[in-house]
Amino acid sequence: MDRKNKLLEAASAFIKTCYQELEKTPHETKSRIESIKMDIQSSGSYVHTKEELDHGAKMAWRNSNRCIGRLFWASLQVFDRREDRTEEEVLKSLLFHIEYATNNGRIRPVISVFNETNIIIYNHQLIRYAGYETSNGIIGDPAAIELTKKCEEMGWKGEGTNFDVLPLVFQIGNAPPVWHQIPNELVKEIPISHPDYKAINKLNLKWYAVPIISDMILEIGGIHYQAAPFNGWYMGTEIGVSNLADEKRYNLLKKTAAAIGLNTQRNSTLWKDRALVELTAAVLHSYRKEGVSIVDHHTADAQFHTFEKTEAANNRKVTGDWKWLIPPLSPSTTHVFHKSYDNTRLSPNFLKSP
Ligand code: ARG
Repeated sequence: MDRKNKLLEAASAFIKTCYQELEKTPHETKSRIESIKMDIQSSGSYVHTKEELDHGAKMAWRNSNRCIGRLFWASLQVFDRREDRTEEEVLKSLLFHIEYATNNGRIRPVISVFNETNIIIYNHQLIRYAGYETSNGIIGDPAAIELTKKCEEMGWKGEGTNFDVLPLVFQIGNAPPVWHQIPNELVKEIPISHPDYKAINKLNLKWYAVPIISDMILEIGGIHYQAAPFNGWYMGTEIGVSNLADEKRYNLLKKTAAAIGLNTQRNSTLWKDRALVELTAAVLHSYRKEGVSIVDHHTADAQFHTFEKTEAANNRKVTGDWKWLIPPLSPSTTHVFHKSYDNTRLSPNFLKSP
C-alpha cells in the first residue's frame, strides 16, 4: 500500500473511534473522512482539528500499555502548540508547560503538542539531572551522560553537583540546536528525608517534582508528532527503587543500608530489599510533606483496577505490558501481578523515537 493510502486508512480508523466517543453523528464522521481524503490526495497529509488533537492525545495516554496511571486519561490538558515557529515561542511554551504542570506541587497532567515535522527536543525529560564522567567516577545521573556531553559541547557548563538540572535543548527545522537553562524558580525539587531514620536525611538527596517525558512521538491517526512532551505525577517506586537505587543510576542502596544500620555483609539479611523499602518510604514521605503530588504503588494499582472496570463498562479492551505495569517493589501484593495483559499496541499511542 502506498504512503497516502496508509495514512488515509490510519486517519479513517482514528476519526471513526474518536467521533464515536465524542458522540458526533454518522454524517459528521463521513464528511470529515471525505475532507481528509481530499487533503491527503492534494497535499499528502491532513491537519487535525483542535478537538481531534485534544481527544487523540487523551486516547494515546489511555492506550499506553506501560502506564499504570491511566485512570486519569480524560483529565489530560492538551496545549496545542502547532503554531509555534520561533525559538522564543517554543521556549515560552516549554517553560509554561513546566510551570502549569507543576502548579506549586498540585501536579496537573499536561501535554504540549508542537508542529509535527519542524521541532526536535533533545531532552529525555524536560527536567532531568546531568551526569558527568570524572576520574573519581560518575557524578550525577549516569543516564544523562550523553546529553550532558552534548550540552557541554554547545557551551553549557553545570556546577558539577549530583543534581544539576540540564538545560532545555531543542532544534527548529534545519537550524542548529539551542539550549536554555530553566529558571530555578520553575524547577520544584524535594529534599528526601525519612520520618524515622534521620541518617537518610544526611545523604543529601533530592529529586524533581514533575517527570515530563519529551523524547516520545505522539501518533494520532497516522500523524507523528515528534515533539509532544507530556507528564503525570510520580509513583514513589520510580524514584526510590529505580532512579536512586539502580546500579546504573544513583546506586544508593549501600549508603541507604548503612544509614539505617543494616548488615550488608550477607545477602540473607535482605539489606537490599529493606533499603529499597525505606528509600521509597522516604520519597513518599518527602513529597507528601512538601505538598507535591505522588502516588504509592498500592494506590496506583487500585486506581488501575478501577480503570480496567470503567474501560470494560465502556466496551473497550484494556491492553497492557505486564512487566512494566507491575511495580518493582512487592509486585505480588498488587492485583496486576496476578493477571496477564494483551500487549497489542493500539493507536493513538506514544512511540519511542528512533
Ligand atoms: N520513570 C521515569 C522517571 O523516573 C518517569 C516516567 C513517567 N512517569 C510518570 N509517573 N508519569 O523519571
